[in-house]
Amino acid sequence: MNASLVATAVALMLCAAPAGHAATGAAAPPTTAQPWADQTRTSAQRTELLLKAMTLDEKLLLVFGYASGDQLAQIDSSVIPGVNVKEVVAAAIPGSAGYVPGIPRLGIPAQHEADASIGVRNPNMPRTSLPSSLATAASWDPRVSEAGGRMIGQEARLSGFNVLLAGGINLTREPQNGRNFEYTGEDPLLAAEMSAGLIRGVQSNHIVSTIKHYLINSQETGRHIVSAQVSEPALRQSDALAFELAIEKSSPGSVMCSYNRINDVYACENDWLQNRLLKGDWGYKGYVMSDWGAVHSTVRAATAGLDQQSGFPFDKVPYFARPLKDAVEDGSVPLARVDDMVRRILWALFDKGVMDHPAQAGPIDFAANAQVSLSAAEQSLVLLKNEAGMLPLTTPKRVALIGSYADKAVLAGGGSASVTPIGGNAVPGLGPGGWLTQVWQPSSPMKALQKLLPDTQFTFDAGTDATTAAQAAAAADVAIVFVHQWTAESLDASLSLEGTQDAVVASVAKANPNAVVVVESGGAVLMPWQKDVKAILAAFYPGEAGGEAIARILTGAVNPSGRLPITFPAGTDQLVRSQIGGKSEGPPFTVRYTEGAAVGYKWFDLHGHKPLYAFGHGLSYTRFELGGLQARQAGARVTVSFSTRNAGSRDGSSVGQVYVRAPQSARWEAPRRLAGFDKLSLKPGQAGTSAVTIDPRLLATFDAASGEWVIAPGTYEVQLGAGSDDIRATTPLTLKGSRFKSAQLRR
Ligand code: BGC
Repeated sequence: MNASLVATAVALMLCAAPAGHAATGAAAPPTTAQPWADQTRTSAQRTELLLKAMTLDEKLLLVFGYASGDQLAQIDSSVIPGVNVKEVVAAAIPGSAGYVPGIPRLGIPAQHEADASIGVRNPNMPRTSLPSSLATAASWDPRVSEAGGRMIGQEARLSGFNVLLAGGINLTREPQNGRNFEYTGEDPLLAAEMSAGLIRGVQSNHIVSTIKHYLINSQETGRHIVSAQVSEPALRQSDALAFELAIEKSSPGSVMCSYNRINDVYACENDWLQNRLLKGDWGYKGYVMSDWGAVHSTVRAATAGLDQQSGFPFDKVPYFARPLKDAVEDGSVPLARVDDMVRRILWALFDKGVMDHPAQAGPIDFAANAQVSLSAAEQSLVLLKNEAGMLPLTTPKRVALIGSYADKAVLAGGGSASVTPIGGNAVPGLGPGGWLTQVWQPSSPMKALQKLLPDTQFTFDAGTDATTAAQAAAAADVAIVFVHQWTAESLDASLSLEGTQDAVVASVAKANPNAVVVVESGGAVLMPWQKDVKAILAAFYPGEAGGEAIARILTGAVNPSGRLPITFPAGTDQLVRSQIGGKSEGPPFTVRYTEGAAVGYKWFDLHGHKPLYAFGHGLSYTRFELGGLQARQAGARVTVSFSTRNAGSRDGSSVGQVYVRAPQSARWEAPRRLAGFDKLSLKPGQAGTSAVTIDPRLLATFDAASGEWVIAPGTYEVQLGAGSDDIRATTPLTLKGSRFKSAQLRR
């Protein structure tokens, strides 16, 4: 079935759903009997009115989610008292990640949940796929992730979904984490800006988005049994700060607690994490939903702040169904706690518009959405190296394309973030299979290049054998080798390319002095051949229009403007941990994050490691001059301004990056931090000015004893750069000491 037929089929299914199970359950018209339907009241008022009208069994319905599909076969009807589970879950959209029944009597819609990091995921529904979240983070432009989020949210509505499991923001603390492609890089500010853009875009469609996975779910190996050992100040200045800033900037309706333990306590039953930090210190009003299979108890989880158990039977026990009712009845969980769970869920459904704007199933404009994906890729791919103006390609007579199915496809990351390709999987049958089948988006770099360079002769070699690849390269004027690293949820990654790929690049570089490498990867990879090739383009997983975006950048139809959101190390010996700790099965284990908040470039700065490619690095076909740096403090605010001029001969985009270096006395985790950035598009000769306000938390350390942020008095150095390793100007900034709480910043 083609994609638009699937969309129509879903539309029909939604219309045909019996009233009791309406897929996104049209809210009841306002009647005096249903005062909460009155849209002139605030979300909080409407929530209270509705909560009062609910029975305990109805409340319990909302705090317990089901998986759909095969998983449901195992469900026993006695899970929730008085509910025919089989009948209820029959209303779930087939293949969806999760489902929470609605309550038609009260006009509460069913919650239809889909994964949605880079597009709506459903094995039965081909949908538009964006570049990976890490790729989009490389645009350093929240407008790009917001446009992507708007597109995803719109496709979700037209597919019947109203809760999206999007917003992955775990810092790239561990470069070998197999899920880094789902997240937005190693820096808390950049990650927060980029993930917040996605969440705002999703929620602009009257959909709840999550932000996930809360917290410090930094590796996939043993994700259900690992304990992340880390101090509170370190977390507050790194992984937690990314969540804190992103939540403030985008107000996601839900936070998904993660699989792992934090300092020995499971995230989803961690009182400090959920009650004290999220709901207390940050004043979060939405609900915490568990990751699928991340719950381990009823009373502990409920009292520690979990609001909704997801995806039963991923957890073997329906902790928040009958056992929660029993716990309320015997007093071990106060009814007030269940009310609080439901209040939070209802508030999110009202506040994000799910109650008032039921999904309108209908046909999807896939052609228009493909342009969103193409534009995101064009703004995100990072030109790492370009010796002697190798790129853009002028009009070579013969080009040899080598490796990674570049004649037909580009790679995508695996697991719950993978989207069913429109047009099918271009290279089926690879990878471990099942939900971890490798997805190759049918977007051919070769075909796109042929269109852009009609007078050039192209050949393709599979790139599996170093000798034949070298022969193909020797017969051409330019050789472009495509290499790839497939990464996926539930597996960690190796930074070394698989199979013969390194040997193939090395022999191609020997055979042809004009060798270019395009890297499709989940994150950083090692490049033993880096010195021997002329140009390198980091394409990450570039999405469903990736082939075209790569071709447009290689030929100069588009000027590259991505900047690295992560550090590419020169070797694994530069990493905090050269190997991922623990095992997937077996006894629980601990990973000690001794680097604390010194994640990514901060670790490299601290230890004087020179990476292969630094955080913030990225080349352009034009040249930018940065200057006019000024830093001012007015009250609690520090504002930094600077100017950028396009001094080259092509249109292009510059990313001005502001770093702050602290005096030693400030005791930061590392010498400096990213404090702001601004991406500007400029024509040749054009100049622009930027002003960024520095969040005070980025100038402070966290004092766990007082719960306060502390800015140390002293003279700081504000740096303006085109990359963390390319600082163009500095200016001193003298700060008086101060202390404040997160809550004070919300006033
Ligand atoms: C993943 C989540 C995802 C959920 C539902 C879990 O395995 O960790 O990110 O949202 O499944 O598919």
